[in-house]
Order: sequence, then C-alpha cells, then structure tokens
Amino acid sequence: MKILVIGSGGREHAIALKLAQSSAEPTLFFAPGNPGMAELGECFPIAVDDIAALLDLVETENIDLTVVGPEVPLVKGIADTFRAKGRAIFGPTAAAARLEGSKAFSKDFMARYGIPTAAYQNFREYAPARAYLDKVAAPVVVKASGLAAGKGAVVCMTMEEAVDALDSMLGPNAVFGEAGSEVVIEEFMEGEEASVFAVCDGTRYVLLPTAQDHKRVFDQDAGPNTGGMGAYSPAPVMTPELLERTRREVIDPTLEGMRKEGCPYEGVLFVGLMLTRTGPRVVEFNCRLGDPETQAVLPVWNGDLADLLLKAAQGRLDTYTPPAPSAESGHAAIIVLASGGYPGSYKNGFPIQGIEAAAAHPNAQVLHAGTRLQDGGPVTAGGRVLGVSGRGDTLKQALDAAYAGVACIRFEGMHYRRDIGQKGLHAGTRAGTRA
Ligand code: AMP
Ligand code: GLY
Repeated sequence: MKILVIGSGGREHAIALKLAQSSAEPTLFFAPGNPGMAELGECFPIAVDDIAALLDLVETENIDLTVVGPEVPLVKGIADTFRAKGRAIFGPTAAAARLEGSKAFSKDFMARYGIPTAAYQNFREYAPARAYLDKVAAPVVVKASGLAAGKGAVVCMTMEEAVDALDSMLGPNAVFGEAGSEVVIEEFMEGEEASVFAVCDGTRYVLLPTAQDHKRVFDQDAGPNTGGMGAYSPAPVMTPELLERTRREVIDPTLEGMRKEGCPYEGVLFVGLMLTRTGPRVVEFNCRLGDPETQAVLPVWNGDLADLLLKAAQGRLDTYTPPAPSAESGHAAIIVLASGGYPGSYKNGFPIQGIEAAAAHPNAQVLHAGTRLQDGGPVTAGGRVLGVSGRGDTLKQALDAAYAGVACIRFEGMHYRRDIGQKGLHAGTRAGTRA
C-alpha cells in the first residue's frame, strides 16, 4: 500500500510515524515533508496547495491513499479533485471544510442545528459591526471569518481592543485580507479548553483520544495566541460524561446536519471546546487534526492508522474494528520549541544541536516541524521548529520524559513553555469546581 501525506509540520511527522507502524507496512510519500519525515519515506518538493502537482504525483506513483495534514488544500478543494479522479483521499470536500474555512458559515450552521456555542453576529460592513460593539460589553471576541493561520481570533478584554481588532479586519487598518472581509463578533466564554477528534466517513465516526492544547506563547497562558506551544493527551478535564454530551450535543448533530445540507463530512472533525459552567460549547471546528495535539494523541492511541483512514476515506467505517478501550494506553505530552520572536517575526537558519541526544532519551521522541538540512546538519526554518514528545504510564512521567528530551536541544533564540500539562496534573483537584 502506498500512502501520500501532505504537509511538513510536527503533526505530519507524527502521522507518518504512526502510519509506518500499520500492519499494511505502507510505503510512504511526503509532499513536501521535513527532515524527520525523510527518514520514513520519500519527500517531494511540492507545495501543500499545488493540487494539480499533487494529483500528478499520485497518478504517476499510483498512490492508494492521500492523507491531508493542513487545512489550506482542503478548503481549496483537494478532496473534490482527487475524488473526481477516483483517488482515495482522507479529508473533507471544500463544501464540508467550510466548517473551518468560514467561521461565519460555521456559526450559522451551529445556530441552525442548536449546537451549543457562543452567541454571535456576522458582519461584512464596518458600520453595523462598530454599532454592534457599542451594544455589547467587554470581554468580547472578534474573529476574521476566513483562514488566518491561527491568528484571526482576538480575545478583547476592553472595548478599545475590540475596536482595534475590528479596524484590523473590516476597518482602515485591515491586515487580514480576504480572510477578514467577514467578521464574527461573539460572546466571551469562560472555562477550560479541550480538543476532541472524530474521524468521520460521512455517516459514522471513531473518536481518537482527547487532548488539551496551550495556545498562548508564554507560561500561565500569557502573551499572544500561537498555533499551539504544547499539548497532552488524554485530557482528564474531558470526563466520560462530558465526552458523551459532546457526542450527543455536538458531533451527532453536526454529522447529521452536514448530511442534510448535501455535504456529508468525511475526514477529521476537530471540535475545539470550551468547558463552561453550563457544559461543553464549541469554540471552533477544524477540518483536520490539531498541531501539536496530534503529536500527543497518536502515541496514546493503539489503533492501526492506515486501516482507519483508508476505511474512513472509502465510507466504510462500519467495517473498522477499533482497538479495545484498554489499548488506549498511558499518557503523552508534546513540548514545542519555537524560534526567538515567534509568533511574531523571527529569523531562520540557526544550527540546531542535540536532536540525537534528545531522541536517545527513554520514552522521548523528536518531531520535526520548521527545520531543514544545511551542510548536512539541521537548522531552523520556521516559527515552530521542533517538538519533543514524551510517553509514560502517568501524565507526570510523560512530561518528565518530554522535558528531559527538551533539555538536550539548543538553538539560538529557542523558547518553550515550562508549564505544559500543569492543568492536567491538577485536574482532579479542580473537578469539583465544575458544574
Ligand atoms: P479560534 O481560532 O476560534 O479557535 O480561537 C483561538 C483561541 O481564542 C481559542 O482557542 C480560545 O482560546 C480563544 N477564543 C476563541 N473564541 C473564544 C470565545 N468565544 N471565548 C473565549 N475564548 C475564545
Ligand atoms: N492546535 C490547534 C490547531 O491545530 O488548530
């Protein structure tokens, strides 16, 4: 079996490692891949959204299954093109990927089906949006509706911040381009966040282990939002009861609604939740796996990933046998090592030391993201450079393994959060405070 993985981040490296363990012993192809993925298969220098070149590769190599890591090619319709050519691809169609590609669509969809989420209004014009801000109180959240690489949601603690955010989308200081041409203004929700991943075939779905991300750049959730600075899995805050409610109140009605609207959902439905006093409410939907959540989720999931994704892509999840619940073993954590300046501007090209020493650490694994080889050695080539994952029987052991690996690695400007997983370690002591 030949599988192509599209993408070049830590998420795609983790997907590649898991696929390599599948019983079908697949031959792996990557576009464009990264130096870590290059150890597992062949990398082709094709951009993730060059759909024509990707299809050409699949036809030339006669690839059996394509797995799409990032959202951009999905929103652009890669799954539609591949399916029209009879090529199996794991990921939603462009119409289904609107759940991530248009926050305005996603909010209206949730409103149509009574899916719990923050109260909101969508705007295309500045004046009514500005007038709406005068009617609501801070804190409030202002979001660019389109894809904005994780930077399009601004949580505003004051009305001045909200007006600035609106100005940066629909107003005189527009910086989001087309993504900001429609804006969602929504109620601020208070609670702890959790990520739930449903692998869907249009009708049925299989849940992967839950996770919790750390979006802010600095410890104690300070500083601006990033793509994610670390994660752990499973997330104990997501109790079996809350997961059951999420199935009933969010996932089931979403799959049913998408079917009803003529765009059955095939691919990963990533539900970003806020666990509020009144129960789980949707912060956002994504149409792909999370990065860095995947790097913690897949190590604790003992299923056969190639088998699961192929059956989902073929609409045959009824024939998939999930691993026994007991096969979901242990805990995992991932710590992201970022370039100096990230999530703002940063420089590339700094040599990276200590990858081998970190990987040699028991229960630690190094995942490449923004790296490239230069003169035979790895150098930095992105905002999120590397991740170090750790596994253990307990979350504490997983975190210790990951941080022991981190301690081996150095590059100029490297920074990372030192408090990944702390909420998970203390989940038991806070459980009583949740309604
Ligand atoms: P999004 O891009 O919609 O996932 O938003 C990015 C991050 O902003 C989320 O992970 C939350 O931390 C925060 N956020 C977004 N919407 C809300 C909301 N309505 N209430 C509180 N925080 C939010
Ligand atoms: N870690 C959040 C995301 O992948 O969108």
